Amino acid sequence: MIKRLSILLPVITLLVACNNSDNTRQNMPATTVVPVTPGKRLFMNSCMQCHSLKQDKTGPALAGVIARWGNDTTKLIAFVHNSQQVIAADGKDAYAGKLFDKWYKTTMPAFGGITDNEIRDIIVYADKGVE
Ligand code: HEC
Repeated sequence: MIKRLSILLPVITLLVACNNSDNTRQNMPATTVVPVTPGKRLFMNSCMQCHSLKQDKTGPALAGVIARWGNDTTKLIAFVHNSQQVIAADGKDAYAGKLFDKWYKTTMPAFGGITDNEIRDIIVYADKGVE
């Protein structure tokens, strides 16, 4: 019995040591963990009910949206905070007014509770069109 233990113990110690080594984790392919960015998480919580990235749903597909707004992210952020305010301010012949008509005057809800930076994160995520 003692003899067998003296052979087994070093083997067990070695196995435990190998298991704990950080190398095992570092050698795993990077694709195994896909991090959810803040923009994606917020999009899933607040926008996905009506928007998708590449397909129209209740609202338009959001991929490429920054260019559609002439790169005016300040106005885009204002629009997400309160779309009806931007539509009223710019007039019905401006981009936002025409979009509203095209979407059968479906009103997007106002998002007062999220910060400008959070909206920017969502828009940058959605604009890329990569889920
Ligand atoms: C209840 C449905 C609904 C929700 C929820 C919603 N939207 Fe919208 N969204 C719409 C509709 C409908 C339009 C188009 C009509 C309009 O412009 O008012 C729109 C338009 C937009 C546009 C302009 C798209 C373009 O092609 O120019 C952006 C940007 C946008 N939404 C972002 C967001 C973001 C970001 C969220 C989450 C914080 C969100 N939306 C949540 C319904 C929604």
